[in-house]
Amino acid sequence: MATEVPSTPHINPQAPIAPTVLLPGDPLRAKFIAETYLDDVRCFNTVRNMLGYTGTYRGHDVSVMGSGMGIPSISLYAWELIHVFGATRVIRVGSCGAMQPDLDVYDIVVAQSASTDSRFLEQYDLPGTYAPTGSYKLLSAVAEQATQQGIDIHVGNILSSDVFYNFRDDVNERWARMGVLAVEMESAGLYAVAAEAGVDALGVFTVSDNLVTGAQTTSSERESAFTQMMELTLPLAGLE
Ligand code: HPA
Repeated sequence: MATEVPSTPHINPQAPIAPTVLLPGDPLRAKFIAETYLDDVRCFNTVRNMLGYTGTYRGHDVSVMGSGMGIPSISLYAWELIHVFGATRVIRVGSCGAMQPDLDVYDIVVAQSASTDSRFLEQYDLPGTYAPTGSYKLLSAVAEQATQQGIDIHVGNILSSDVFYNFRDDVNERWARMGVLAVEMESAGLYAVAAEAGVDALGVFTVSDNLVTGAQTTSSERESAFTQMMELTLPLAGLE
């Protein structure tokens, strides 16, 4: 009897899913990454149009799937990818808003840790403040790639916020004073889900706007920054 392929409320796999999964927020970005950078691409998920693809990068299996926006979305997809489909490396590739004046648009930020204003971590009922942390294995591999490829990266603490349009206008400034580099909306949830499962997670971002200086990206230059981010993260599929 054929073994039944598991499915979940959000992922109904039509093709295998690789142990290494890249997670851009936008499902059409996942399609673009698969079609641009991978060989032998097969679509594995179309549920809710949260497109997922599996292919190979330099001979190594890798999947790429949309995560949606925000901690609730990425954390449910990561949970299912890890617990049901055996993912052992979950890597967010996205954009962030810089909170420090010396970060330029198109710069690359790697989230060593992810502070958050979300209540997601409260479910773990820990007797203190948990520090969602990226995988050192993945982080050191990205740093090594950056050195080899001559790409500058900024490594540090980011903020994963539930709020894109803040009611108060001093919020970002307060996080910035604690050395937080940039804001996005997903990584703290991804890191917590991965940590609890004992697997590796990392967030790598291109700066799309600077909240201090007001600088913003233009679409033509966005493309090359995006390519750099992919060339730093896709080789993670080949790690032992
Ligand atoms: N806030 C949250 N997420 C983001 C931002 C921002 O300003 N810019 C890019 N991603």
